[in-house]
Amino acid sequence: EKGGYDHFMMKEIYEQPRSIRDCMRGRIYPQKGLVQLGGIKDYADKLKNIDRIIIVACGTSWHAGLVGEYLIEEYARVPVEVEYASEFRYRNPIITDKDLVIAISQSGETADTMAAIELAKERGATIFGICNVVGASIPRLTHAGVYTHAGPEIGVASTKAFTAQVTILTLIAFYVAQQRGTITEAKLVEYLTELDSIPALVEQTLKANEQIKIIAERFKDSANCLFLGRGSSFPVALEGALKLKEISYIHAEGYPAAEMKHGPIALIDADMPVVFIATQNSSYEKVISNIQEVKARGGHVIAIVSEGDTTVKDMAEYVVEIPQTAEAFVPLLATIPLQLLAYHIAVMRGCNVDQPRNLAKSVTVE
Ligand code: F6R
Repeated sequence: EKGGYDHFMMKEIYEQPRSIRDCMRGRIYPQKGLVQLGGIKDYADKLKNIDRIIIVACGTSWHAGLVGEYLIEEYARVPVEVEYASEFRYRNPIITDKDLVIAISQSGETADTMAAIELAKERGATIFGICNVVGASIPRLTHAGVYTHAGPEIGVASTKAFTAQVTILTLIAFYVAQQRGTITEAKLVEYLTELDSIPALVEQTLKANEQIKIIAERFKDSANCLFLGRGSSFPVALEGALKLKEISYIHAEGYPAAEMKHGPIALIDADMPVVFIATQNSSYEKVISNIQEVKARGGHVIAIVSEGDTTVKDMAEYVVEIPQTAEAFVPLLATIPLQLLAYHIAVMRGCNVDQPRNLAKSVTVE
C-alpha cells in the first residue's frame, strides 16, 4: 500500500510528478496557448466583471493561497486577499456580489473553511472551490470549482495536495487572465509550454534526496530553524517551516527574507540553521544580502538555488540545486526539497511522520 516506501508521506512526495500531471491533464493546451477549466466554465463571463478575489483556507492550503495571490495579481491583474478562514468568518467582512471567493481545502471538510464559504455566499459572492476529495462537503457548498485530482493523501502532513493546489491556482490565474485579456496568446503558449515540463522537472528535483539526507543528519538535533524567501518563495518558506514543525517537532518559522532584520535576526547564532530559497529570480540579489547577514552572525545557511548557481554556492554551507524554470513555477520545485528535509529529519528523530501527535487529517471542528 505504501508502494515500497517506508511511509505514506514519502510515497506521496514521490508521486508529485504524476499528481501535478494529473492536475493539468485536459486543462492546458500549450500549442494553442489555451487553458480550459470545465468546472468553472459557466462563470467565464462573470470573471470579466469581478472586482476582487478573496482566497479562504487553513494551514497548508492557506500557504497555497498565498502563492496564488502572486500569480493571480501578476497575470490576471485582479486584487487578491488571502484570509485564514477562521479569522474571516468572525470578522464581519465586507463582501459584495462582485467578489469571487476561492476556498481551498484538500479534505473538503474543514469546518472553518465551510463557515467562511457560507458567510460569503449569504453576502452574495460567487464561490469557487479547489478541493482534492471528490464529493466532499466543500465542493457541494460552492457554486463551481476545480478538483486537484492528486489522489488520496494519507500522510497527515500535506505534500502532493499542496503542489496540486498551487498548480490549480496557476491554471486559474491564467484562465482569469485569458478571460480578462491581460495576457497574450503568445505569452500563454510560452508559459503553458514551460508548465507542461514541470512534472519532469519535479522528477529531476527529487534526485536531491540523498544529498538532503546528509543535510538532515547535520541539523536533526537543532532546536529551531528559520525558513526565508521572497516573492512567491515567501509562502514556500512558510510551508517548509510548517512541514518541519508538524512532523519533527522542531520549532520552525517562515518569514519574508527582508523581515528578518525587524526581529528574527536576534535569534541567529551558531546553533541556528537558516534555509533560504535563493533561486535566480527578481529578488535574487536581495536574498544574497540576507544570506550575508545570517552568515555574519554565525548562522548556518542551507540554500535552495537554481541549477548552475555559483554565487550562493560559495556562501552557503549546503546548497540544493533545483532546475531552472520561469519565476511563476519556482514554488512547485522549491517546495520539494523542503518536504524531503522535514521528512528525513522527522524519521531520524524517531517521529511518527504519517501520524504526527495532536494532528488530524481533516479538521471538522473549529
Ligand atoms: C499541514 C496540513 C494542514 C491542512 C489544514 C487544512 O500539513 O495538512 O495544515 O492544510 O488543516 O486542511 P484542508 O486543506 O483539508 O482544508
